[in-house]
Parts: sequence; structure tokens; C-alpha cells
Amino acid sequence: MVYQGLIEKYKDFLPVNNRTPIISLYEGNTPLIPANNLLKKLRFDGKIYFKFEGMNPTGSFKDRGMTIAVSKAVENGSKAVICASTGNTAASAAAYAAKAGIQCVVLIPEGKIAMGKLSQAVIHGAEVLSVDGNFDETLNLVRELSGQYPVTLVNSINPFRIDGQKTAAYEICESLGQSPDYQFMPVGNAGNITAYWKGYKEYAEAEPKKYSLPKMMGFQASGSAPLVEGYPILNPETIATAIRIGNPVSWKYAEEARDESGGIIDKVTDDEILNAYTLIAETEGIFCEPASAASIAGLIKCIRHEYFDKLNPVKIVCILTGHGLKDPDTVLANAVKLKKIKSVKADIKDIISAVEL
Ligand code: F0G
Repeated sequence: MVYQGLIEKYKDFLPVNNRTPIISLYEGNTPLIPANNLLKKLRFDGKIYFKFEGMNPTGSFKDRGMTIAVSKAVENGSKAVICASTGNTAASAAAYAAKAGIQCVVLIPEGKIAMGKLSQAVIHGAEVLSVDGNFDETLNLVRELSGQYPVTLVNSINPFRIDGQKTAAYEICESLGQSPDYQFMPVGNAGNITAYWKGYKEYAEAEPKKYSLPKMMGFQASGSAPLVEGYPILNPETIATAIRIGNPVSWKYAEEARDESGGIIDKVTDDEILNAYTLIAETEGIFCEPASAASIAGLIKCIRHEYFDKLNPVKIVCILTGHGLKDPDTVLANAVKLKKIKSVKADIKDIISAVEL
């Protein structure tokens, strides 16, 4: 059957029924790409795959949760959705609300969201409110608002979001025909690590002979690493604005995923993130956004610290949560710094003296 989005495909595992109007942009079904060049570069004896969630319709994994959150909102008679966002949730909520024909209000931390994400929220017709505060403060505001007014909250506190996002774990299991040994991923508000862990547990329970449980390896940016430090960060900072979050809502569930799976939650610096971001773009031809590269930076850190047993090659999946085109400013700011763009005259000789052909 032709693919029609993840609700249609996984309805037996999702909280939908015959009366749920399916609001879908045919999200999910994203590629699992072997990273063979990276393997060679890192001299790593195992397997590495990228789950490229940037290939979802609005360019991030948020679409998986949003298809269900918005479908259920419409089923329950809601005429409006609201969210706080570092950008991707806002872009996704705006697109699915547009498809559903309902109102969408998004609150974003002023000056701290990538241009691509902001332009998505605007073009899909959301009411965009730029708040003089960080993500955590903004999230508190929308929680309060949705408690008092007839508007559905579509942040990952909404359990339907988690249910949609868990389908990425199903897809990984199906693509590999087994579970990975390790999953590396960025952690911000911690909804996604919660969702993947739920998905892996459900598949392992449904078919215990086929599927087991991977170790969940979460990475935060070092200036925004509350789960690593063990306390909320009041003024989180990082170049990876998507995960610039100081007090994750799903804190407890992220710790559960880490502890039950025998994984870790660690931090990586902005430099490590940028290096990993550039490395996979140059070696694998994949352009992800900075937050997504935290998973690769985490993997590189683990390999350097000899985390893995050399005698026992492992299968690793890194989640690339969003597309690099969301945030071209980060590339260009660094490209200029790295002198990657040369100016030349409109003249063959000048061009030949600038590049070796
Ligand atoms: N990667 C990207 C590209 C994200 O946009 C986010 C979160 C994460 C990773 C972290 O996922 O919060 O489930 O741990 N973005 C949210 C937003 C907060 O508003 O778009 P998480």
C-alpha cells in the first residue's frame, strides 16, 4: 500500500479510533542511512546509521508528534492550538494547524530561534509572539494559558506528541530487522528520548525474540545541560538554539530512559557540536541542524574515550532530529570565520587562481 503517514501505518499502536480525523502531511518513513565514510574517518569497528528526521515534511521529528496531537485536538472539538518553542515545534504546529484549518499561536524566545523555523511559522499563518524570556519561561506561560482558555497545548507535555514520536523507534527496528545496540540523540526538553524509549520497549515486548533494548545515549549542549549537572540552568546558552533549554519538562522520564537502558546523558561543547556538524556535512553529504549534531558529537566523544568494547563491534543509530536548512545563519557565520567563501572577479584567470581544478 502507498505510504500515507504514520497514523495510517501504525494505528494499532496509537491512541486513535474510527472517529479520529487524520491530519497528516505524510510524515515519518524517514531514511536510515549507513554512515560508512564516518566509520572510516573515525576508524570505528562497528556500524553507524543516521536516522535523518530532517526528511519529515516540515524538516524535523516534531511532525511525528504533531500529526497525532492536532488530529486528537480536532477530534476533541478544539479550534486552536498553542505551543512554546525553540522553533521546530512552532513550525510543525503551524503547518498541521494550517492543514486542519484551525488557529495556531506560537510563543518563541526573542532572538533565539533559527530563521528557517521562524519563516515556517509565519508562512503557515500562525500567530507568532516573540517573548522577552527564554524557552522555559515561555513554556510556563503557555501551560498557564491552556489551563485557562479553550486552546490545546501541543508541547510534548501533550501525551499524544510522545505517542507519535515513538514511531521513529519502530521504523528503526523494522529497517534493521533488529534493535540497535546504542542510540545517540540530542536532549532538550527530553520528550524525544522519552518517546524513543517507549517505542523500543513496546516493540521488544511485542516481539521479544526479534527485538531487544538499545542503550539510550543522550547529549545536551554544555551551556544548557541541566540533566548532566543535576539542577535546572537559569540562563541556558548554546549555539544549538533548538536545545537551549534549562529545565526540561520530561526530566524524570529522560532519567528513567537512561537508567533502565543502561545508557548515559552527557554534554558536548558548542565547538564539538560545530565540528561534528561540519564533519558529517563534508564526509556524508548530510546537512543537519546544530542541535542534531550533538548526537554525532556525543558519539565522537564516546569513541575518543574508548567507551565501546573493541572486541565486540556494535550497531549504533544517531538521530539527526532536524534539517540543516532550518538554520543557514550558523553555517554562514562560521564559513566566513573559516574563510570558506572567497570573493573573485568575473574573470576566468581570477577564478583559476582561487581554486585548483
Ligand atoms: N533537536 C531538534 C532539532 C529540536 O528542535 C529539539 C527540540 C530537540 C532536538 C530536542 O528534543 O526537546 O524532545 O528533547 N525542540 C523543541 C522545539 C524544544 O520547541 O522545537 P526534546
